[in-house]
Amino acid sequence: MIERKQLGIAVIGSGRIGTLRSRLAAEHPAVRFIAVSDLVEANAQKLAKAVGASVASTDNRAIIAHPEVNAVIVSTSEGEHLDAVLAAIELGKPVLVEKPIALTTADADRIIAASTKAGVEVRVGYSRRYKDRYLLAKEQIVQGRIGRVIGAAMRVYNSRSQALAMLGRNPHATPVVDALTYYVDLANWLLDTGSPVEVYARGQKGVLKAAGHDVDDVSWAILSYSNGAVVNLGVCYALPEKYPSLGHAARVEILGSEGVMILDDDHTDQIMYSEKGVPHVYLPDHNVNMVFMGSGTPGDWALGDFWGPIANETRAWLDHLATGKKCVLATPQEARANLETTLAIELAADTGRQVKLPLSA
Ligand SMILES: NC(=O)c1ccc[n+]([C@@H]2O[C@H](COP(=O)([O-])OP(=O)(O)OC[C@H]3O[C@@H](n4cnc5c(N)ncnc54)[C@H](O)[C@@H]3O)[C@@H](O)[C@H]2O)c1
Repeated sequence: MIERKQLGIAVIGSGRIGTLRSRLAAEHPAVRFIAVSDLVEANAQKLAKAVGASVASTDNRAIIAHPEVNAVIVSTSEGEHLDAVLAAIELGKPVLVEKPIALTTADADRIIAASTKAGVEVRVGYSRRYKDRYLLAKEQIVQGRIGRVIGAAMRVYNSRSQALAMLGRNPHATPVVDALTYYVDLANWLLDTGSPVEVYARGQKGVLKAAGHDVDDVSWAILSYSNGAVVNLGVCYALPEKYPSLGHAARVEILGSEGVMILDDDHTDQIMYSEKGVPHVYLPDHNVNMVFMGSGTPGDWALGDFWGPIANETRAWLDHLATGKKCVLATPQEARANLETTLAIELAADTGRQVKLPLSA
């Protein structure tokens, strides 16, 4: 007999990603119960109705403590993860929290300390890991097919509409801390045997600053790793509003001692033009005529189901809880390293100076 644990899931934060996670959880065969909460009552009520959740509230703690709940998804905005994560750990309930784990390393440390002390598993939603091409890349590295990873180049572009939505939610959710973090995570995960020890970076302000946010439009960084690898990371979240990508347009190149992988993730191979317009998977009021299909960062809707990284990742986490099967969602220690590296990149760009890791407190 295969043992399968039944799951009752609390979703804290009923916004865009909380809604997606809830819909995916509601369809998972191990999930028997869903409770949702949000600061804004209407958001929680709307989501509860959409997924048939049994309880909706503005009281996060009451939802986490509900006796039917045995695992918690924290999908609140970037600066609001900590309290709900700590509350779940206190009650011994495993957590999936969205990236970035927190906005300060001190908050990330509190999560790590609490989860280690209580022996409660926390995972962080770095959903790029669950995009097929990056899973396949990891597999090649695990199989040793490109030898030792000696360097990488990764860059991600997006339209300014998405940057403005992120910065509107939280001014500290900058393109580096909130978006480049996925590629810092990929670099750290794929390199595996080393960690960043030194960062150089430069940035350029303009479009986002004119819109009221004192952050760089373009950031380029060079990272040296403890094992000698050198990695070039870049982000521009200020492409024109109607640029055809509806999420990350990326390119990832991984250089090994015995091979190389070039992952073209721009989606320029899937183009559609529509006079009727195409909606954005993430920004409700955004509509474009020309679209790179499949470029929605979390994934895309097709024939009534959601497909792509967030779907794969949510299912992998639920499978892991229900059956004990291994999953590769980021650990809080990995997420903390990603956060620290993105903060170092911003510091290096702001000061124009080399920054050593770990950052001093
Ligand atoms: N993996 C991905 O593809 C992906 C994509 C986008 C965003 N994200 C991450 O998901 C998280 C949420 O982003 P989003 O786009 O869903 O934002 P959103 O603004 O759509 O939703 C956030 C929700 O949290 C609620 N909220 C804020 N503080 C709260 C609190 N203290 N208690 C309860 N509810 C609270 C807000 O009212 C809102 O409904 C962020 O950490 C973001 O970085 C991940």
